[in-house]
Formats: sequence, C-alpha cells, structure tokens
Amino acid sequence: MTSPLDLAITHGRRFVAEQSSRSVAPTGSRADILAPMPAALPATGMDAGDVVNLIARAAEPGLMGNLSGRFFAWVKGGALPAAQATDVMATLWDQNAVLAATSPASAVLEEVAGRLLLDALHLPESCATSFTTGCQMSHATALAAARHHVLARAGWDVEVDGLFGAPPICVLANAHRHSSVDRALRLLGIGTASIVPLGGGGNAADLGKVAADELAAALAATQGAPTIVVLNAGDLNLGACDDFARLVPIAQAAGAWVHVDGAFGLWLNASPRLAPLVAGIALCDSWATDGHKWLNTPYDCGMAITRHGDALKASMRMTASYLTTGGDTRDPMDYTPEWSRRARALPTLAALLELGRAGLADLIERCCDHALAIHDGIAALDGASSIARPIINQGLIRFHDRAGTNISDAVIAAINASGEAFFSGTLWQGARTMRISVCNWQTNADDVRRTVAAAAAALAALR
Ligand SMILES: Cc1ncc(COP(=O)(O)O)c(C=O)c1O
Repeated sequence: MTSPLDLAITHGRRFVAEQSSRSVAPTGSRADILAPMPAALPATGMDAGDVVNLIARAAEPGLMGNLSGRFFAWVKGGALPAAQATDVMATLWDQNAVLAATSPASAVLEEVAGRLLLDALHLPESCATSFTTGCQMSHATALAAARHHVLARAGWDVEVDGLFGAPPICVLANAHRHSSVDRALRLLGIGTASIVPLGGGGNAADLGKVAADELAAALAATQGAPTIVVLNAGDLNLGACDDFARLVPIAQAAGAWVHVDGAFGLWLNASPRLAPLVAGIALCDSWATDGHKWLNTPYDCGMAITRHGDALKASMRMTASYLTTGGDTRDPMDYTPEWSRRARALPTLAALLELGRAGLADLIERCCDHALAIHDGIAALDGASSIARPIINQGLIRFHDRAGTNISDAVIAAINASGEAFFSGTLWQGARTMRISVCNWQTNADDVRRTVAAAAAALAALR
C-alpha cells in the first residue's frame, strides 16, 4: 500500500510538474474547496492516506499558480529546485531550530546560511542574521533591535521598563513604505502616530524617494529625540530605491538608526549591473528582506540583518532553567522572536548554493529584463498606457476602453480567467492600475510572449 508520505509527495510532484500547462489562476470556488470537507469533526479518525487524498482533492481547485513563470501578481518568487527539495527534507527531519542543543544541524547550518547570505548581499560579515517567517517579522525583529538601541542611548532600558514613560521614539519613514513597517511599529508599541512620512511628493524621477534636504530638516525637527529612519529598497509599485549613499550618513550623523525595507530590493545588491541602484545600502544599521521573494525559497522565509548584533540579542534573548544553552554554536532563539521553529534557514542555504554568485546575479537581472519586456509588450497594445516603466522588476500599466473608461480591473480579471497569466492591481495616484512583478527563476521569453498575447486577447475582447 502507498504510504501517506508517498501519496503527499505524488500530489505535490504532480502539481509542480503541471506548472506550464495548468491554469495559473485557481479554477474553483470556495464551495468547490469546501465540498469534500466534512462539516464537523469526524467521531473517529480516518485512515492517514485517505486524509492526505481528501485534503489534496479539496485544495486542488483553490491552488494558486505562483510557482508558474507566468505569475506576476503581488511580489512572489518561485521555489528553486534545491530550495524546494531541502524544504521537504527539513519537514521530514522535523527539527526544532530553537537551540544548538535541540538541533545541532539546524543551528550550525543556519550560521552558514547567514554567512553566505551576507556575502551574497555584500553586507558586512560582522552583521547578525535572523531567519524569520517573512519581511513583516523581519521588520518587527530589526525594529525591536533599533528600539533597544535608540532608547539605550537615551538611558532607557526598554526590555525591563517597557515603553510607559520612555522618551518618545520618532520614526522618519519613506511615504511609499510597505504597510508591514507600520504594523511592526504597532506591534512594538512605538505606534503609527510616531511616523513622519518623507518623500511623498517629488517629480517623476524622484517619485518614491526621500530627498536629502527633507530628511535633514526632519532630523533637525526631532531635536535629538531617539530616532529611527526607515528607507526603501524597491517599493512595490515603482521599484524605487532611496539614495542610501546620500541619506544614511546624514541620518547616522544625527544619531538615528537607519532601517531598510529591502523585501526584494535588497537583492539588487547581488547584481553588479543593478547594485548601483542601491549604492550605499551596506551603510545602514538594519535590513529586512525575504527569501520567498527574489531568492526563490519556498514559503515562508524572511531575514532580518543588523550590524548591531548586541542590540538584536538584547531585544530577543530569553533564558529559562530548562534550556541548554551556551555551546560553541549560536542559539537561534537569541536572534528571533520565535521559540520553537522549523529549520527555516536550510532552504536559504540550498538556494544560495544552487545559484552561486553568478546564478543569483543572473536571476535578478533576468527578472528585470522580463519585467521590461512584459511592460513594453503590453504598453504597446491599443488601450494600454504605461504608468511606470520598470526600473527593476516592478511596473505599472493602465487600461481604458474606447470611451476612455478605466477598465484595468476588468482586463486583469480577464487575463487571470484565461489561466495563461496572473496579475494583481493597485490604486495608483487615484486610479486602478495593473501591477507587473517578476520574481520567479522560471519566467522565460516564452512566458513573456504568452503573457503579452493573453493581455492582447483580454484587452481586445473588452474594447
Ligand atoms: C516592500 C515589501 N515589504 C514588506 C513586505 C511584507 O513581506 P512578507 O509578506 O514576506 O511578510 C512586502 C510583501 O509583499 C513587500 O513587498
């Protein structure tokens, strides 16, 4: 009889193998997903193989094709073969990567993954790395270290005394930041009212970027209050990157901690061709990024990195009498807000080894080239207009019918319904707009051709 594990691997394998032929969009409704499911907990347990088959059957119509080379919605990577396979292995090993004592393999290999990550991103080798569930938790982790650091400088011990009565923290943040930054500030008790948005205006060339004089004026207005500056490496609409070489020294000279949302944009630093777009990024105090975006690890995988390892450890470290700590390997829990956790760094290690320096640069550059080709191909269609030509791997396009009505959402829905490609939309400067985001190692010239053809067919039918 086939084991439950073999059944699961067969279902998973089939899904991966079908990527170029199956619909990129899910094909069923909520009702289709629910149909095979019991309404209540079964009185007695089911056969394990039957459970696997039942869940596979229920999920099938609702599976999203984000592994496909023709998936361009939100910002999602594919999963590199070695990273995907290593993730399966990590699941089967079922290690608890909380301490070196609970899983020496996970802890030691997490150290190696961190070292190779810093090397790949050209960040100082003395930085501390933390493997999280995603960029949201990387913000929370890195900003907890920032909170410790700026309050310690003001003579306040936030880990002991909390924030009641603490000197207020001022956060000067790029106005085009991702809302996960705001949520991290909420979770940390700093609150969104502490945010002063910068770089909201500007001409087309400076859109999405903080200006140096604006930052200097905002820093002066804080009058020496504990300050965190949050900059962008790649905002999700334009791919705009702040001028780190110019801004970071200004902020640090004023005593501020500089944190970067580099969910995908930090990876530009791994490409000699694109690294100039983020020149000076290595000067920052902390960085938040994702493995499951441009590095193409499977979900979920994020990284928080800081040059202030002591601040990170001060904000995270916990002890308990039953823990076995203090060997020659770092204990992962000293670097993350999690306690028990899967061996999350292993797929990152696999992805970095599978790509190497040249493969990583090639992946980043290829995605940018494909984003440009998709944008240019679609923008040339009757009824399409370019709103933002990709500088990196993100672009914006808007669609109108012959009467001039914005039909962007209808075009996105029609492309997605065709099963050929998948996009998502956004409200950009008050009007609905289609986003293009290319983050997948699988996307190739044929995918670009099929995608432009799908957009042409959808647009023609709607005009
Ligand atoms: C720029 C940016 N920052 C942060 C995030 C949040 O990342 P995650 O979903 O990995 O937590 C995203 C997600 O798309 C993003 O695009």
